[in-house]
Amino acid sequence: MYENAKAMLEKAKKGHYAVPQININNLEWTKAALQTAQELNAPIILGVSEGAGKYMTGFKTVADMVKAMIDGLGITVPVALHLDHGTYEGCLACIDAGFNSIMFDGSHYPIAENIEKTRELVRICAEKGLSLEAEVGSIGGEEDGVIGAGEVADPKECKQIADLGVTMLAAGIGNIHGKYPENWAGLDFDALDAIQQLTGDKPLVLHGGTGIPDDMIAHAIRLGVSKINVNTECQLTFAAATRGYIEAGKDLQGKGFDPRKLLGPGVEAIKATVKEKMTLFGTVGKA
Ligand code: 13P
Repeated sequence: MYENAKAMLEKAKKGHYAVPQININNLEWTKAALQTAQELNAPIILGVSEGAGKYMTGFKTVADMVKAMIDGLGITVPVALHLDHGTYEGCLACIDAGFNSIMFDGSHYPIAENIEKTRELVRICAEKGLSLEAEVGSIGGEEDGVIGAGEVADPKECKQIADLGVTMLAAGIGNIHGKYPENWAGLDFDALDAIQQLTGDKPLVLHGGTGIPDDMIAHAIRLGVSKINVNTECQLTFAAATRGYIEAGKDLQGKGFDPRKLLGPGVEAIKATVKEKMTLFGTVGKA
């Protein structure tokens, strides 16, 4: 069922679990994520970066594919299609293309400008029925050309943005896109606690879900995180499974070169990763 992320995240916040945002890159990724959510009777958010949207030949291709796939596969669990780290213009393009959820990443603007642009998108999303994620304090590392310095958000600025009426709020708390370095200091739970105390019921979003230890995930959920983004981990497990298939010489046996066979182990690896995350985040059975 194609629906925006508002109800699923409010339910998650109340129920003390988190809905995964799984970033998609192509048909195989999308199908693997949707089938796993359906199998586990869990809500899911499909994330699309601007780079991934371009790769898939445009946001309209993505929106049409996701909607057709929900129909074609008979997916009944809630599915949100969400722009990840959007620019202001990217947000408007996704609204036009038929996405039902967007993230405006204004974290690199001075706070006054972030507030002004977010306020405008709150108005547009309310009118059109989309959910909206805003961000305060950049997420560290690099994702599809979006490079963040990795700041810890100011809780008062988080409250200012939350009060604009966004659906969910991402705040930098020492999290990083991609693999975490050996000397990573971990998540800043004092900051997260302060943010949640000021923002109350507002569902909070944790980016950089790849490689965060299980106990930190559980702690973050206890402190109000209701959406956790996972991208790199699916890419890593997909690549490892594909490498295994080719290194075993399976593409050279019979019709093993057929893309529907060659990409099969990678698809199974994505499914296993999504299942692991849904189990860890407590999303299983929450559709
Ligand atoms: P990872 O690539 O570290 O899992 O982060 C994903 C993310 O935060 C998408 O916005």
